[in-house]
Amino acid sequence: MRFSTRAERIEPFYVMEVAKAAQALAREAAGTAEPMIFLNIGEPDFTAPPLVQEAADRAMRAGHTQYTQALGLDALRERISGWYAQRFGVDVPARRIVVTAGASAALQLACLALIEAGDEILMPDPSYPCNRHFVSAAEGKAVLIPTTAEERFQLSAAKVEAAWGPKTRGVLLASPSNPTGTSIAPDELRRIQGVVRARGGITLIDEIYLGLSYDEAFGQTALALGDDVISINSFSKYFNMTGWRLGWMVVPDAMVPVVERLAQNLFICASAISQHAALACFEKDSIAEYERRRAEFKARRDFFIPALQSLGLTVPVMPDGAFYAWADCTQAAQTLGVSGSWDFAFALMRRAHLAITPGRDFGTADTGRFVRFSTASSMAQLQESVARLRALLG
Ligand SMILES: Cc1ncc(COP(=O)(O)O)c(C=O)c1O
Repeated sequence: MRFSTRAERIEPFYVMEVAKAAQALAREAAGTAEPMIFLNIGEPDFTAPPLVQEAADRAMRAGHTQYTQALGLDALRERISGWYAQRFGVDVPARRIVVTAGASAALQLACLALIEAGDEILMPDPSYPCNRHFVSAAEGKAVLIPTTAEERFQLSAAKVEAAWGPKTRGVLLASPSNPTGTSIAPDELRRIQGVVRARGGITLIDEIYLGLSYDEAFGQTALALGDDVISINSFSKYFNMTGWRLGWMVVPDAMVPVVERLAQNLFICASAISQHAALACFEKDSIAEYERRRAEFKARRDFFIPALQSLGLTVPVMPDGAFYAWADCTQAAQTLGVSGSWDFAFALMRRAHLAITPGRDFGTADTGRFVRFSTASSMAQLQESVARLRALLG
């Protein structure tokens, strides 16, 4: 069979290779004293809280299962708008909110709406692997800009300005970021937006982890910077609904009909049951539960990062959000007699039954030295992981 160059351009997702190997080893390790612990997975171990489950059940029984309009249920768009007002003090009218099948569909729609063949989109290295592919699937080119710990592994206005060329169309940022859990400092973000705006470019910002923010200095939405910012969000992470496939995007007024047309044709709509269920995410009791869980995620971070540091797995920047630790494994790899994060990840998997993610997928600059631990697992699992790391690394 002959496949499109568009499809051939999509690089393999190495994480999946690691996950496959981990699953195979897990079968062997099952029933032993050390069953496999999966710290390679970027999804909460919680499921949707009771009110949300009940709302899904009610929707199903009442037959609220037909297509919705492509932009999403009006009631849900209103609730999301209310959430921005309540939580962030920002006025985001419901008419600018587009409900999507997860952040993934939102990113795809945004890229298809805005990118011409050959357009370049600047993004930090390291960043979420799929972002490069959303851009390339829209015939654009992702330009990865190496970042440093001093920059919180995020782009700076100076770097955006220096990298801007005749083909540059805009930037794709994520704050807090996957894999680093670090956010862009608000002043720097304002400066980046200034540089992009002055060039007539687009600022796309993935705020999927914004709800899981642990530091007041960073927890604000970029939407406060102006109506031209495009923000991607999701029910997957803060709302603990990964498999429900529901997210949203806030776009400028002029972009709504364009995204609507694309969504109508490509997806028809996001899952109706999930949309009805998500209305209950914003009930007082649900938010209270989500906030308890956010505190639990913070407690996990506060336990796990210092433990990694004490074992020579250096986390150069304390994550201010999300549930990841981006750790330099150079020293720990030496202790195990291997070199590079790929071999280190496999060594941990085989010798400690700990599955983690090597840096390779997230970029090319410095990713050979880094691994990503997910701290979305229970505290007991994190404690057991640290005990195993301590036994192995001393
Ligand atoms: C930064 C980032 N953006 C987008 C996604 C996709 O999320 P969704 O489940 O909403 O499609 C993920 C998933 O891990 C992510 O980490």
